[in-house]
Amino acid sequence: MTAAKVSGRRIAVTGAAGSLARDIIPRLVSAGYTVSCVDRVAPEEGFGQEWTLTEVAETEVLVESFRGCDAVIHLAGIPLEDDWERLLAANIDGTYSVLEAARQAGVPKAVLASSIHATGFTAVPAHGELVPDTTPVRPNTLYGVSKAALEALGSYYADRHGMDVLCLRIASRFDRPRDVRMLSTWLSPDDAARLCIAALADPGHGFRILWGVSANTRSYLSPDGGAAIGYFPQDNAEKYAPELTEPDTPEAASETEWDRSYIGGVFCSPNPPRHLAPQTSR
Ligand SMILES: NC(=O)c1ccc[n+]([C@@H]2O[C@H](COP(=O)([O-])OP(=O)(O)OC[C@H]3O[C@@H](n4cnc5c(N)ncnc54)[C@H](O)[C@@H]3O)[C@@H](O)[C@H]2O)c1
Repeated sequence: MTAAKVSGRRIAVTGAAGSLARDIIPRLVSAGYTVSCVDRVAPEEGFGQEWTLTEVAETEVLVESFRGCDAVIHLAGIPLEDDWERLLAANIDGTYSVLEAARQAGVPKAVLASSIHATGFTAVPAHGELVPDTTPVRPNTLYGVSKAALEALGSYYADRHGMDVLCLRIASRFDRPRDVRMLSTWLSPDDAARLCIAALADPGHGFRILWGVSANTRSYLSPDGGAAIGYFPQDNAEKYAPELTEPDTPEAASETEWDRSYIGGVFCSPNPPRHLAPQTSR
């Protein structure tokens, strides 16, 4: 991936040990950013960036690691369905702590990892129609509720405290699409980095919500919010279509019915995929 070089831009990334962060941090560094990393787990040996080992609930610690930053990219959190108490602590209290620390440290911009599951019970639109970036929240899980709360906190810090806040409704960020639904919802690692770099560079102000999705032929998520900030995805899940066949077991066929009905797919079923352990990533 190539990107225009920036100079002297320092940013903080929470959840820096996670899978999405591992996709984007090297690409941010290549683009010229200095990255202050935050996570509750230590970096892999040899990782070259500044690292703060902390829970995101530790607001005072975050203030110190955010000082002098032009923006915070907030990725820390539980990325799947879980118990309410754990989601409340990591995703809702955690997001409050990150935004409050950014405010206290004088950081003018926050880029927040929201999710398609904040509005997962939105119906898959008719062929050729698109779901707008700002479609109202319709969470399909408690995880989705936690992301709706993240968006609400972002809106509050934008309106009340004048921060620029971009909420990225990330769809399916994987190395490659894993099932037929992801031919519509896939976000490639390179496009995830393009999205974050566009969000960092965007000179706009205030609160924005936009889809995090690649340029998939079958996408039903509007590209308008991304285009408005200069995000032009370059990857397309369609090249993987020949490898992805319709299911041949009753269980998988049932999952496919959820995929056809709601944009949150199987996360809308009575048994959505769950987070397995406090520090497990997908
Ligand atoms: N990967 C996707 O397809 C996808 C889709 C939608 C949204 N998201 C969101 O993007 C973000 C990153 O997702 P991911 O797939 O990289 O998840 P991940 O589990 O791989 O990474 C999350 C990171 O956050 C850290 N973390 C969790 N709780 C913390 C806490 N209380 N304090 C400090 N650090 C904490 C973990 O240690 C981990 O390194 C999450 O907020 C997730 O909800 C991801």
